[in-house]
Amino acid sequence: MRLSQRATAIQESPIRKLAPLAAAARERGVSIYNLNIGQPDVHTPPEFLKAIAAYTDPVLRYGPSDGLPELREAMCDYFARYDIALDPTEVLITNGGSEAILFAFNVVADDGEEIIIPEPFYTNYNGYAEMANVRVKPVRAHAEDGFHLPADEVLEAAVTPRTRAMLICSPNNPTGTVLSWEELERLAAFARRHDLFLIGDEVYKEFTYDGRRHRSLLELPDVRDRVIVVDSISKRFSACGARVGAVISRNREVMASILKFGQARLCPPTLEQLGAVAAYRLGESYFEAVREEYQRRRDVMFDALTRDPGIVLRRPRGAFYMIVKMAGVEDSDAFAEWLLTDHAVDAETILVAPAGGFYGTPGAGRDEVRIAYVLEVPKLERAAAILLAGLARYRAERHAAAPA
Ligand SMILES: Cc1ncc(COP(=O)(O)O)c(C=O)c1O
Repeated sequence: MRLSQRATAIQESPIRKLAPLAAAARERGVSIYNLNIGQPDVHTPPEFLKAIAAYTDPVLRYGPSDGLPELREAMCDYFARYDIALDPTEVLITNGGSEAILFAFNVVADDGEEIIIPEPFYTNYNGYAEMANVRVKPVRAHAEDGFHLPADEVLEAAVTPRTRAMLICSPNNPTGTVLSWEELERLAAFARRHDLFLIGDEVYKEFTYDGRRHRSLLELPDVRDRVIVVDSISKRFSACGARVGAVISRNREVMASILKFGQARLCPPTLEQLGAVAAYRLGESYFEAVREEYQRRRDVMFDALTRDPGIVLRRPRGAFYMIVKMAGVEDSDAFAEWLLTDHAVDAETILVAPAGGFYGTPGAGRDEVRIAYVLEVPKLERAAAILLAGLARYRAERHAAAPA
């Protein structure tokens, strides 16, 4: 029987596709440092788990489609700490940030319409675009300038009569870039010029380093009706398996439409929402400790890798990822495979994500990999050494094999 075009077009996760090679390496007795996936190793707050254990109602019934009122209120209190005033009616709880993205795509664009996204970008946007039948229009950001927002001319050139929105992710997965206030203002002007929605994926909001504060699209005064923010507790409270996120907008029409999508999937998970309420009651000190730990990890990885003069890398300012551009690597898929099949130092190797899957433009990012620094410092030091040794060997072998 014939499947839909969508069924064949939807992309396989580029992050998970190296798993069979990693399994084979393990079978040969090689240990692997996983630098390929954004699963934080920080403990979920015990308060979160205790709140779930304290549930006593004999029936786990459906909750409201827009989420538990106490969670929506807890989120408003949390945003108030960042001087962002929100009303609970402007917050709808979703099944993870993932569903928030899907809902946002569905309400801003019709079939075949376009959403501009700077590349490299979080690869699952492709999947949501496929599900919502909208097109991702990539605009290129570059390693050399730390993957900051492309120039206005580049943004303008991407606009077509079908453009409906621009999506930005800051702090960014996969680059770690945090957009400045000036960049957000530039985006606001762009959105007004072309009558676009601005979708902000801000799921890494707390993860900013070097004393920098994350600025939200919700802080922009002149585009209040255009902004839709995607939020999540997955990274905030190291609760990826909870599946609790939110979509936030001050545009009433947008929220009313999103609620209808929410009704169609009934409700987000009740127990995990109760856990989230307890986690939101934790003070700012919870984030300070986590932030310090990730900043240390970022520094370890960055300082080690930039010792190689063939690596292009600007110090990332947020999230827990970096895109590493490497001279001597022409096909990072092959390089990532080689690290698993042919390279090991003292029976240890690393798993990295080839960056091609984070680009919408075919062939882009072939000399880059994404590294997630979600391991403890001693392990990261080891992983960085293995990568540098591998890179040196790979270059030497390729160079030796090249015709004179
Ligand atoms: C940029 C970005 N947005 C959204 C998500 C999805 O998060 P959730 O677990 O809340 O669905 C992720 C997960 O890694 C992400 O990196």
